[in-house]
Amino acid sequence: MTSDSEGVVVVGGGQAGFSVVSTLRAAGYVGPVTLFADEPHLPYQRPPLSKKAHTEAADLSVSLVPESFYAERDIELRLGDDVVAVDPAARTVRTRGGRSVTYAHLVLATGARNRPLPVPGADLAGVHALRSLDDALAVGRALTTARDVVVVGGGFIGLELAQVARAHGARVTVVELADRLLSRALSAEVEPHVRERHEQAGVRIRTGTSVLALEGSGRVERVVTSDAVLPADLVVYGIGAAPRDELARAAGLAVDDGVLVDEQLRSVSDPRVFAVGDCARHPHPHADGPVRLESVQNATDQGALVGRRLAGQPPARYESLPWFWSDQGAVKLQIAGLRAPSDDVRLCVGDVPERLAAYAFRGGLLAAVETLNWPAEHLAARRLLERRTPVSADDLAGTTLGALARARRAAEVRA
Ligand code: NAI
Repeated sequence: MTSDSEGVVVVGGGQAGFSVVSTLRAAGYVGPVTLFADEPHLPYQRPPLSKKAHTEAADLSVSLVPESFYAERDIELRLGDDVVAVDPAARTVRTRGGRSVTYAHLVLATGARNRPLPVPGADLAGVHALRSLDDALAVGRALTTARDVVVVGGGFIGLELAQVARAHGARVTVVELADRLLSRALSAEVEPHVRERHEQAGVRIRTGTSVLALEGSGRVERVVTSDAVLPADLVVYGIGAAPRDELARAAGLAVDDGVLVDEQLRSVSDPRVFAVGDCARHPHPHADGPVRLESVQNATDQGALVGRRLAGQPPARYESLPWFWSDQGAVKLQIAGLRAPSDDVRLCVGDVPERLAAYAFRGGLLAAVETLNWPAEHLAARRLLERRTPVSADDLAGTTLGALARARRAAEVRA
């Protein structure tokens, strides 16, 4: 157990910040712990927000833990109190309310913000982004009456929300600038299968299409795109996110599309400052250069690593296998590992038609796996990739990872 009189200050009440403070206490840290969150809500889970329509009651059900959790562990939770400045020399943070708090260690868990939609009319009523609980509640309410929904951006938010809107009986069109869906996260080999399933569910998809303007008198009524005018009484956009790294930048810490940290998630400029989650750019054994990962797994694992270290456990490198999931109606997409653009991707059709896996090989060895509706194969991939078990394309010829792992286990038992 370690303690220091000035304690740990965590900026950001998302999944990463929560993971830091809960791990600190679980690992026996007894010094002061303060968590600053700019939203008024208790820290909550973000994944459910785009996977179903939310009503007021959902406000409570997505909280990570009840309020008593913080009081029982002597974690000072400062909701709606955003940190506006960091002074690394004085080791203080200053809040909008004018409060100044000194830290022994600072953890930046400030997350990312959605990119704004850069077209005329984006400020009309009926046009929503989707990141916060308040955004989700606003979209949920709008979906109760919406008939024509236009989703701008065919990424994770857009495709999840498209299916939620279909489930509400709305006509749904997804407008995507790139020539395919999910171009940031998913291989070109799997994308047609995802697209086909959305189209089968009645979602109209327009790729390679720009939104030029949103129009209406007071409320949105139509979306003007590069090739059509689409009627719309609700527009939801998800066109990517950018790290919230401005506090670090203003404090003079190294920043480059995210707070630059070392393999232990410590700022490369200041050993008393750490950054975790969507806002951190870090070296990773599964990537060629520093990466910034936007996922709950990453936020949780990075928060826990820093929490354990600040509680006095030996420093460790961040090496967790990245994995992602997205539920889009009948499509359950799961990704294990980080695919690189030059990877050699091979498709494997599962034993039932809904199932599909794509194996990405780098230097002849398995580096990442994308699956549709095949959780067992995703889990087998995670186990093999976590252990760095070498799997070649020949090993996988005509078989699956699940079957390969079982065969290898049986061979070990026989040996
Ligand atoms: P994204 O990066 O997944 O997708 C953005 C999409 O918008 C891309 O396909 C991009 O080509 C497209 N786009 C960019 N500019 C455009 C424009 N002007 N017009 C039309 N399309 C445009 O980001 P998304 O969906 O906004 O999600 C934001 C964040 O939330 C990400 O960090 C994402 O990982 C996270 N998220 C994750 C989920 C999951 O893991 N299941 C679910 C929902 C959100």
